[in-house]
Amino acid sequence: MTIGVFDSGVGGLTVLRALRARMPQADFVYLGDTARLPYGTKSPDTVRRYALQAAEALRSRDVSALVVACNTASGVALEALASRWPDVPVVGVVEPGAAAACRRSPAGNIAVIGTESTIRGGAYQAAIARLRPEARVRVRACSVFVALAEEGWFDTPAAEAVAQAYLGDWLQGDDPPDSMVLGCTHFPVLTDLIRRIAGDALVLVDSASTTAEVLAERLGAEPGGGGSVQFLATDGADRFARVGSRFLGQTIDATDVEIVDL
Ligand code: DGL
Repeated sequence: MTIGVFDSGVGGLTVLRALRARMPQADFVYLGDTARLPYGTKSPDTVRRYALQAAEALRSRDVSALVVACNTASGVALEALASRWPDVPVVGVVEPGAAAACRRSPAGNIAVIGTESTIRGGAYQAAIARLRPEARVRVRACSVFVALAEEGWFDTPAAEAVAQAYLGDWLQGDDPPDSMVLGCTHFPVLTDLIRRIAGDALVLVDSASTTAEVLAERLGAEPGGGGSVQFLATDGADRFARVGSRFLGQTIDATDVEIVDL
């Protein structure tokens, strides 16, 4: 079984990491559209067009399932992808993340952070409203977190200041949320930073591991190992390997990254 995983860049490697942990026997082809990153500030039409092109490239490599690791693309392109390839399971990160937040929020007071496009597009808000109509949802675009994660700035005073500015007052007050969705591929690597501002009581929901769970249930997962990974990017093998290693949690060699044109 070969599973195609697609993201705007290296952030989706956090999703690949969770997928490999849950499905160690599967073979993966990961495509990062690094030439056109970021998606998080682009219009829905553009992101949809890019996502269809990326999925086409993965389909040409005979993948038998497609994971849209990018939250921004999951929010706007999932239906288009599923109707273009009805014969292949297409799984995004929004629905699993929203479902996990609904399950893990006793008071139904849910916060969602993501890129500008994810928040503006309203996919998490819609999914939570569908799954748990009485939930109260607050949302915030935290675009600078993407740059902090790519720079590896987890413990710097600048990172603390940014996290404080985004989350400090927003998460405090009389009616604080009891769960928060990390609705962007890059945010799981900032968990410790976010936790320092958010405090221990807030449940942080990582869409990556919940998506891996959904895919494993759909396709079936065997214990063991032996699965492989092939890396594709649309630009910059060196940067993909350097920054991506941090997101994947293991070293990627630049010579193992194939540059493709969409
Ligand atoms: N992969 C994007 C997401 O999860 C973040 C980076 C970008 O803006 O392209 O929304």
